[in-house]
Amino acid sequence: MGSFVFITGASSGFGEACAEIFASQGYNLVLVARRKDRLIELSKRLERNYDIEAIINELDVRDEMAVSKVVHNLSDRVKSQLQILINNAGLAAGRASIESGLTSDWNQMIDTNLKGLLYVSQQIIPIFKKNGFGHIFNISSIAGKEVYSNGNVYCATKHAVDSLSKAMRLELVEFGIKVTNIAPGAAETEFSLVRFKGNQINADSVYDGYNPLQAIDIAETIYFAATRPKHVTLNDIVIMPTDQANSTVFHKK
Ligand SMILES: NC(=O)c1ccc[n+]([C@@H]2O[C@H](COP(=O)([O-])OP(=O)(O)OC[C@H]3O[C@@H](n4cnc5c(N)ncnc54)[C@H](OP(=O)(O)O)[C@@H]3O)[C@@H](O)[C@H]2O)c1
Repeated sequence: MGSFVFITGASSGFGEACAEIFASQGYNLVLVARRKDRLIELSKRLERNYDIEAIINELDVRDEMAVSKVVHNLSDRVKSQLQILINNAGLAAGRASIESGLTSDWNQMIDTNLKGLLYVSQQIIPIFKKNGFGHIFNISSIAGKEVYSNGNVYCATKHAVDSLSKAMRLELVEFGIKVTNIAPGAAETEFSLVRFKGNQINADSVYDGYNPLQAIDIAETIYFAATRPKHVTLNDIVIMPTDQANSTVFHKK
């Protein structure tokens, strides 16, 4: 097949599950995240199991120069076969009122979820234009559709991702580049452990009493959207656990 998929935040959760599903279907990968040890392990496993090529780069998407360098250093062969970008790297840090929130948490979320996504997209879009095709997946959230209590800045960054997906569509429609916004509800990944800064009890309590989504559910949805015919684009996908009605209402047993 030869096509490459560029995945940010591939070291766990949705990103890792996307790497697995695309590799299993013969796609090659460019995987980036900060935890290089995880990327090494993942790439070795996927190359062994699926006979694909997985290029890894330790990258903090908040570092504009580093993002530019990683993309610049891809070979012409990889660039010419790059078809899909999954803008997935992101996080929630803390859950507090604006009055009591940590500005360091706000900066991390804004710099990663919003500016990092922009830095990566700015580097990849010219490659897609040159190739005459490309598909960008932006991982927003139900928090990008609704605001929940004490979710202020995280929700704002994900609303911004939702807006950027719309903006990208306006800019890229004439180049045949697809843009799919993905808005998941609660999914059991390392997301809550990161949000609550390693507090396992608080993290586990997020998923108590109902069946959350799993990373594979998001990866399968992205793979489905990525494999529609050329003339079909799924613009915006809200994917929820059956036990979750909106950002705040859960059916707990
Ligand atoms: N889980 C949910 O309930 C849920 C729901 C809706 C949307 N989302 C969104 O889905 C995306 C993936 O989250 P997840 O649930 O899969 O959580 P996760 O398991 O914590 O994965 C987050 C990924 O983002 C990477 N990342 C974080 N900061 C980064 C940075 N500065 N530079 C590069 N990579 C960075 C992490 O890698 P390193 O730490 O190795 O850098 C990790 O691979 C996020 O954008 C999140 O906001 C999650």
